[in-house]
Amino acid sequence: MIFRSAKASDPLASEITPHSVYLNRRQFMGQTAALALAAAASDASALVARDKPADMGPQWLREQIAAAKSAPAGDDAPAPYSSITNYNNFYEFGYDKDDPARYAGKMKADPWSVRIEGECEVKGTYALEDLLKGIDLEERIYRLRCVEAWSMVIPWIGFSLSDLIKRCKPLSSAKYVEFISLADKDQMPGVRSAFSTIDWPYREGLRMDEAMHPLTMLAVGLYGEVLPNQNGAPIRLVVPWKYGFKSAKSIVAIRFSEQMPKTTWSQIAPQEYGFYANVNPAVDHPRWSQASERRLPSGLFSPNRIDTRLFNGYDEVASLYSGMDVRRFY
Ligand code: MTE
Repeated sequence: MIFRSAKASDPLASEITPHSVYLNRRQFMGQTAALALAAAASDASALVARDKPADMGPQWLREQIAAAKSAPAGDDAPAPYSSITNYNNFYEFGYDKDDPARYAGKMKADPWSVRIEGECEVKGTYALEDLLKGIDLEERIYRLRCVEAWSMVIPWIGFSLSDLIKRCKPLSSAKYVEFISLADKDQMPGVRSAFSTIDWPYREGLRMDEAMHPLTMLAVGLYGEVLPNQNGAPIRLVVPWKYGFKSAKSIVAIRFSEQMPKTTWSQIAPQEYGFYANVNPAVDHPRWSQASERRLPSGLFSPNRIDTRLFNGYDEVASLYSGMDVRRFY
């Protein structure tokens, strides 16, 4: 994985959208408002909607997202929309942080279908709309900690992966769940590049109990809107206590398996990236410390460096790993 230090183009701390402003906007959405209310809503949304393309995604998904339950107010202020959507890792579109925003726009995320395969009763290829039918979406504000030692707070819209897994009726032999991303040479410059070191498609996986944990989600939206392509449209995994590379984007297949799946980064550099990839300040990457992180937005004069927390602060997952040697199973 490429590691880069702060660039002049990194967003500044002063760009942070106050959490209260964002929550106000969510409360306003969907209300047939009196004039005063409408004016206030548009003021608030102007702060977060900068650079946000209008009318992204299909109508049915926009409606489902608009009905999502808002997240309760928390301590973490979400990063501005512009930071979340312009500083990305999506190597199918290139290795620079701004490549995904530059090149992913043309990816066709609608119509989209997902293959369900492997050790489960309900298999097949399903249109995303059918897959999401009857699923109540909700907003969740999660910290995302990248293995490169930067982090962001992101207001996702999505649902628990466990809701989908239950519908697939996994067999008792299903011990792991694998996630396979789109790899399309025609749409993705990184996939057709002769210099790419990745064996496409991008693959990730979770142990079944990790996949079923209520924190593990599939996201289809961001900041109350359809997920932009650079963030993994139309559907991506989010596992907030693991390094960001576990959260596979633009998923085209979900496979239940008995064996631990071979995942992209653990294949490329097994001494650097393990299958578990739990955020852990005590287990350094061989080439850099994981004790702290740069919380974005940050800048040269406001580095915004904070201590990294075990499991990214999501202590409720600790019991999944009790008795496990986390240094060996990193
Ligand atoms: N998924 C795919 N298909 N391709 C990728 O390159 N990068 C991963 C993960 N999911 C990646 C991916 C990494 S390294 C990180 S840190 C997160 O996506 C970044 O998500 P974000 O760009 O939405 O912040």
